[in-house]
Amino acid sequence: MSDGLPWVEKYRPETLESVAGNEGIIETIRQFIKQGQLPHLLFYGPPGTGKTSTIIAIAKEIFGKSYRNMILELNASDDRGIDVVREQIKTFASTRQMFGGNSQQFKLIVLDEADSMTNVAQNALRRIIEKYSQHTRFCILANYTHKLNPALISRCTRFRFQPIGDAATKEFLEKVIAAENVNITEEALNDLIKLSKGDMRRNLNVLQACHARAGGPIEPSDIYECVGSPDPKDIELVVYSLMNDDWSQCLPLISNMKQEKGLALADMLTMIGDIMVNVELDEKKRAKILTGLSDIEYRLSSGGSEKIQTSGMIGVVRSALD
Ligand SMILES: Nc1ncnc2c1ncn2[C@@H]1O[C@H](COP(=O)(O)OP(=O)(O)OP(=O)(O)O)[C@@H](O)[C@H]1O
Ligand SMILES: [Mg+2]
Repeated sequence: MSDGLPWVEKYRPETLESVAGNEGIIETIRQFIKQGQLPHLLFYGPPGTGKTSTIIAIAKEIFGKSYRNMILELNASDDRGIDVVREQIKTFASTRQMFGGNSQQFKLIVLDEADSMTNVAQNALRRIIEKYSQHTRFCILANYTHKLNPALISRCTRFRFQPIGDAATKEFLEKVIAAENVNITEEALNDLIKLSKGDMRRNLNVLQACHARAGGPIEPSDIYECVGSPDPKDIELVVYSLMNDDWSQCLPLISNMKQEKGLALADMLTMIGDIMVNVELDEKKRAKILTGLSDIEYRLSSGGSEKIQTSGMIGVVRSALD
């Protein structure tokens, strides 16, 4: 039974308990809540690791059902002036809530994507935070701290959200897989987790897309196709051919693969580079190959032609091995 919601929303953690990974952070926050002493919070870290989800779970835990009345969500990257924000915060902070929210008196103000606020706005915020601290707690969410004003950071307790660990990710995804009756091979699931690098949003989006398209069980190749990333098996073939075949075999193999699978040379290069680092090879030759590949990557990114750079890549490996 599907109610049409994207899985990232359908499976947004409802409680702190169900947030995957970052156990240390969750435990600390649980202690704060237990003692009724929530400080201003700063959550930062890569996308899809549960920052927004965690703050919503906190609000639910503290305020129960009426949590929506107790939390003001401001998306800092909306193009609003700081005056509007100040006005909204002022109105929100000055209306007292008489029901819900058990013994806790404060309300929660969430500033999402705060790293895209202008410096002027961030400066204004420092004052606002101090002014309304008695009845409100601020929670600042960001991807990068280096774009945040140090004075702002120092007013908050900081938590860095790490990419979600593989084991925790798997456990979470397995629940979704069971609930949605997804047919996926063990190998494909492991590849998906590896590709998503701890980003749960990405995991769920790719899984849902593959599930929607799949006729049979989802295989590793479906995952790679869906994210538009080369299948490592194909790249191994390319590397083998680069190192062993004639030019007349190698070039068509690569060109055909690029065309059939819709791959860009830049994506292939990244993976070829990874393999070349580990392949058994004389150190001098390895150094030559890697330097050559990095030159090609540079030329590609500055507008070099795919065709010529593809031949160039073969040339790099050939001349290094001679
Ligand atoms: N730790 C997690 N446990 C379970 N699900 C998660 C977790 N992190 C992210 N998700 C899933 O990914 C979706 C997006 O997560 P969320 O909005 O919390 O990410 P975020 O860290 O705020 O990312 P961004 O930096 O892009 O705002 C959630 O709806 C949920 O489905
Ligand atoms: Mg977020």
